[in-house]
Order: sequence, then structure tokens, then C-alpha cells
Amino acid sequence: MGTRKVLRIGHPALRKCAAKVPDEWFGSERLDRLIDDLFDTKLACCGAGLAAPQIDEPWRIFVIGMSHNPRYPHAEPLPECVLINPVIKSIGNDLTVGWEGCLSVPGLRGEVERWQHIHLKWRDREGAFHTEELKDFHARVVQHEKDHLDGVLFPDRLTSPVAFGFTDELQASGRIP
Ligand code: NI
Repeated sequence: MGTRKVLRIGHPALRKCAAKVPDEWFGSERLDRLIDDLFDTKLACCGAGLAAPQIDEPWRIFVIGMSHNPRYPHAEPLPECVLINPVIKSIGNDLTVGWEGCLSVPGLRGEVERWQHIHLKWRDREGAFHTEELKDFHARVVQHEKDHLDGVLFPDRLTSPVAFGFTDELQASGRIP
């Protein structure tokens, strides 16, 4: 267990497509250690989510979870969960706009459009399959983290190049809470 270094935008590992976790890894100590490192690092950095490529591990795994978070004071709490080999499909065509941040893009926020309502399928650390329907902030976090598995960072998806800036500047001008 331990806290790992979070890579920042510009590091090439953040731009690679991660590989599926192979069947023989489920239930292994190797996978457990990686998942524990993701949770520990997310907690230490006050993130809502963290994907394996952000700690230089090229696998399709991410963790989410948040109680009260000073980075997102108005967001609803998220239950802690590890998602392995996730697959996302939109339910309907509704899109929603919201401001996002990222531990790999420190100090900055940008406005991004996401599906409002999604169907999610994933495997847990023992390899069991799960499905769930998610909406709003929870769906946004999952789409953001899943993007990391495909080498995509939120500044790639800005609604406008102008809808981007340092968190404190955006707060000072009242554009984000
Ligand atoms: Ni991120």
C-alpha cells in the first residue's frame, strides 16, 4: 500500500490507450496492491476519482469515491468503488455541461459536455461483473475517469477554449463556486 506520484499533463503515459486487465489477474495480490495504491493516492490528493494511467500503470482500472470534498464543495457524495474494464453506453441523447478538474491538470478547471445518463458495466477486484445506471455528477466522474483509459484529458473536450482557466481566477470572477 502507498501513495504514488500522479503524472501531469504533458507526460506521454497519460496519452496512451490502457490495456484490459487479463482474467488471471482477478483476485491476485498484484491487482489488490494496484487498487489499494489508487485509493490511497486519490485520498491523499482529495480527488473524486483516479485512473491507473495517472500513476503510470497502463491498465483499464479506475477508482471513484468521495465524501465531502473541498475541491468540489457543492457536489453530492460518491460511494467508493473500483471499476475494472469498464464499458459505458449513453441512455438517450441528453448532454449536460459542467466544470471539471483533474489531478493530472492541477490548479485548472474547464467546462466539458458529458452524457447525462449512462449505462455502465464493469468488473470488480474478484472479477465479478456489475451493471448500473448513473446520472449527473456520478455519471460525469465515471466518463472523465474512463477517458483517462483512452488517453483523453478533459482539456481535449472543452465546450470552448475560453471555458478554461485557473480555479482561483474562475472563482474570483464568479464563473465557478
Ligand atoms: Ni482526471
